[in-house]
Amino acid sequence: MRTQVGIIGGGPSGLLLSQLLHLQGVSSVVLERRSRAHVLGRIRAGVLEQGFQNLMRQAGIARRMDREGQIHSGVNIAFYEERLRIDLEGLTGGKTVMVYGQTEVTHDLYEARDALDGAVIDEAENVTPHDLQSDAPYLTFTKDGAEERLDCDFVIGCDGFHGISRRCVPSDVLQTFERVYPFGWLGVLSETPPVNEELIYARHDSGFALCSLRGPQLSRYYVQVKADESPDGWSDERFWERLKSAIPAEVAARLVTGPAVEKSVAPLRSFVAEPLRWGRLFLAGDAAHIVPPTGAKGLNLAASDIQYLSSALIDWYKKGEAGGLDGYSARALARVWKAERFSWWMTSLLHRFPENEGFGDRIQRAEFDYLAGSKAAQTMLAENYVGLPY
Ligand code: APR
Ligand code: PHB
Repeated sequence: MRTQVGIIGGGPSGLLLSQLLHLQGVSSVVLERRSRAHVLGRIRAGVLEQGFQNLMRQAGIARRMDREGQIHSGVNIAFYEERLRIDLEGLTGGKTVMVYGQTEVTHDLYEARDALDGAVIDEAENVTPHDLQSDAPYLTFTKDGAEERLDCDFVIGCDGFHGISRRCVPSDVLQTFERVYPFGWLGVLSETPPVNEELIYARHDSGFALCSLRGPQLSRYYVQVKADESPDGWSDERFWERLKSAIPAEVAARLVTGPAVEKSVAPLRSFVAEPLRWGRLFLAGDAAHIVPPTGAKGLNLAASDIQYLSSALIDWYKKGEAGGLDGYSARALARVWKAERFSWWMTSLLHRFPENEGFGDRIQRAEFDYLAGSKAAQTMLAENYVGLPY
């Protein structure tokens, strides 16, 4: 089998890259190790920056997103009983975000690849890159028990944090930067009306909580838990009680509770790998970096990586220019680190850090009070939340 671009990973990064390349006549094959049902069953964050929305429109995949996505012009930060609305639109000269579940994004991406007979091979096992330092790399993998080989010009690692591609970069070349937080998020999806029409990020004695939504009768809530907690230890009742304790009483009073249709715990970490290129291998999305979900940047960072990389590959094939490929790592990392900073800042402001009690709590209170009283501070939050320029 031969293609121009071999893509490891059929999540949002890999599928979006494959679609953008296809529309410009560049061939690719996506090798995904899980089944499509498994990939589509993942529940992930759902706040899209305008840059991501525009990329989906450029890829011809935005019809359902534009029909069903909800435009949000503000976001709320609550600190104990105070609630501050950040006027995203007013503070950024008209920019907003869209709430549209990542599960829906991935579904739309798969549908688009199918419509163009895109080559997405799922349940591809033991994907292994070879000869990445040569100009003729290839991938081997197993499909239905048969050994396969995919010859290509470039290999793109879109295989997420636990993928194989980052591990192909020699340890004396790859640098990693990581902060693992001493807590996780317990998330619940419930078929109940959202407690608020805009998102509320909250900090209370019990720690962090987030009130989000997917639709008029579908809500997404999170509370801070210990990093190693299991969702099995959390009955619906215990979850709702914790959530009510972590949001302002005026909000808790109107919370509609109901059975959890999905309940899971996600760890929080900040992680960046450098460089994002090694020979003919390029890293993008979660394979290259991870952010705590507090800033809603994970999917949006994958989008800017893919925009830079797809443009660079198209320039290579259409004009024979290598500048985009040579500059990809530095260009992507510049935006990645700014999003890492913002995600770390939101996480530091809104979570209870047991080891920082006392001084740390007072600093969080001072940070919130400064935010509440400063248009400059609110503008910083707003322009990062809607997304910095590509
Ligand atoms: N071989 C083939 N596929 C693999 C391998 C492998 N060795 N390892 C992982 N994968 C697949 C996973 O099954 C997954 O479907 O790669 C895909 C990676 O997808 P994501 O983890 O979603 O990462 P990405 O596409 O970069 O999307 C980033 O989506 O998952 C969220 O939090 C993430 O918001 C972020 C965004
Ligand atoms: C979500 O709706 O799942 C969500 C929204 C915003 C975040 C994280 C998760 O920052």
